[in-house]
Amino acid sequence: MPPGIKLLLAQFISAALCISLIVPSLLEKNFVLDAGWQAWLMGALAAVLGRVIGMRAWWLPINLFFIPSLLAASQLELSPAWYLAAFLLLWLVYWSAARSQVPLYLSSRKAWQVVERRLPESASLADLGSGMGGMLVWMANNRKDGRFHGFENAPLPFVLSWIRARLAGSACQIRMQSFWAADLKSFDVVYAYLSPVPMPALWQKVRQEMRPGSLFISNSFAIPGVVPDEVLEVDDLHQSRLYLYRIQ
Ligand SMILES: C[S@@+](CC[C@H](N)C(=O)[O-])C[C@H]1O[C@@H](n2cnc3c(N)ncnc32)[C@H](O)[C@@H]1O
Repeated sequence: MPPGIKLLLAQFISAALCISLIVPSLLEKNFVLDAGWQAWLMGALAAVLGRVIGMRAWWLPINLFFIPSLLAASQLELSPAWYLAAFLLLWLVYWSAARSQVPLYLSSRKAWQVVERRLPESASLADLGSGMGGMLVWMANNRKDGRFHGFENAPLPFVLSWIRARLAGSACQIRMQSFWAADLKSFDVVYAYLSPVPMPALWQKVRQEMRPGSLFISNSFAIPGVVPDEVLEVDDLHQSRLYLYRIQ
């Protein structure tokens, strides 16, 4: 079950229990519980329920603060249009992240430089989930001999990266398409900076489609149970690691 659904489940069960059972019985026993305390009670119960239904520890504060934050935000008395606008913006950026569990965050220029040093002459490279297109535009500028392709399925990053590439006069090609639907056999190098979740399935795809001798590079997320041919340390903010897999 995607964590977003688990979060909603924990919140709904917690709210239902608090409203129908816990708060009325505490009030009966003469506890003073204003709206703030009730919100914290719901948050605390949702945090516990989240753990019970298998959410990772880092969801605990999110579950805890969810209802108190809603209460605090409702007291700001902002126009509902602001919430709608914020929701639409996040939706256009994160699009399928709740399902794919691959949000948008960007790899560093130092990581691009390390990848660039591994590119063979006249190579074609694909960035799976190309985000804001930074890597592709940079590569196309620095390696005139190469061909660079991006696949991005979130609308706003796709549009911004497409405009960025056109403004820079870049020869890279970025498509609004899921990388799962892309055929990887024409690429010499495939680069991915995703999350741990898709790696096992992506490895199946890579092995089925990429040609022998081509290179799969995963930034930060190793393929579970597969020993990489090389691991490169990147001296960037996150001390990233690039996992290199030579396709047999
Ligand atoms: C961690 S970001 C990496 C961005 C960029 N590659 C970089 O290195 O800076 C991952 C990107 O993959 C995109 N993404 C996730 N699943 C995808 C899919 N199935 N097809 C295309 N893009 C996807 C997300 O929208 C997000 O922009």
